[in-house]
Amino acid sequence: MPTLLITGANRGLGLELCKQFLQSEWKVIATCRNPESATRLSVLKDKYPKLLSIHTLEVSNGDHINELKTQLGETPIDILFNNAGVYAAESAEFGSSDAVVWLDAFKVNVISPMKMMEVFVENVANSDRKIMANMSSKMGSIAETSTDGSIAYRSTKSALNMVIARVALDLKEKGIITLALHPGWVRTDMGGANADFSTEESAISLIKIMNNASIKDTGKFFDIDGSIIPW
Ligand SMILES: NC(=O)c1ccc[n+]([C@@H]2O[C@H](COP(=O)([O-])OP(=O)(O)OC[C@H]3O[C@@H](n4cnc5c(N)ncnc54)[C@H](OP(=O)(O)O)[C@@H]3O)[C@@H](O)[C@H]2O)c1
Repeated sequence: MPTLLITGANRGLGLELCKQFLQSEWKVIATCRNPESATRLSVLKDKYPKLLSIHTLEVSNGDHINELKTQLGETPIDILFNNAGVYAAESAEFGSSDAVVWLDAFKVNVISPMKMMEVFVENVANSDRKIMANMSSKMGSIAETSTDGSIAYRSTKSALNMVIARVALDLKEKGIITLALHPGWVRTDMGGANADFSTEESAISLIKIMNNASIKDTGKFFDIDGSIIPW
């Protein structure tokens, strides 16, 4: 049975990805900061008691990541999905940069995905699908920078893209497919109510991209329609 390990699984895109993988009878290792208050994940647990496990993971806490590794041991992980992210709204515009907010976003959006990939690399290498999926954003594309602010957020996703491009080279010989994925503009707490896509639509497209991905695609930055986004 294939296995997904995903961060930020209690709401938004993370929750929807859990739902869709469970519907396809994957084993899902869902992580979130506060399992006690993750009511929508608990509902899924009632529906899929054998397939779903829920674990505490504040992604910027190295002890939490190591504890999860201890719990999972050598379990093969077909897809490690680094989904958790923050927007850093208080550091979005020129003239409002805030080092504390920015550094916190950098930890969550850049360093934590790197740590997850480092700690779980052998679990992914020992699986069938061997995918490290990372939720990036078109906002991290320097080539496609538009006029709105989001400066701190954009910079973290640009940095994440570099991590992905570099890690993809390191892990290629293990057969690991390392991906940067843009989920579209999605109606979540982060994306807001006016966004283009529902979480259902976005997750369907993301899963299609991952299903079609092979080692030839490692280190690529995919848009939601499967096209390539310029860095
Ligand atoms: N929505 C969009 O339009 C859009 C577009 C491009 C990229 N993205 C990316 O897609 C991913 C998911 O976004 P979303 O729209 O689903 O956002 P969301 O609804 O705001 O959900 C964010 C998720 O990340 C978790 N999270 C934040 N900080 C964390 C931390 N330190 N440790 C563990 N979990 C943490 C949140 O957990 P809590 O509930 O505990 O806060 C929540 O589960 C993010 O990486 C985002 O940058 C989204």
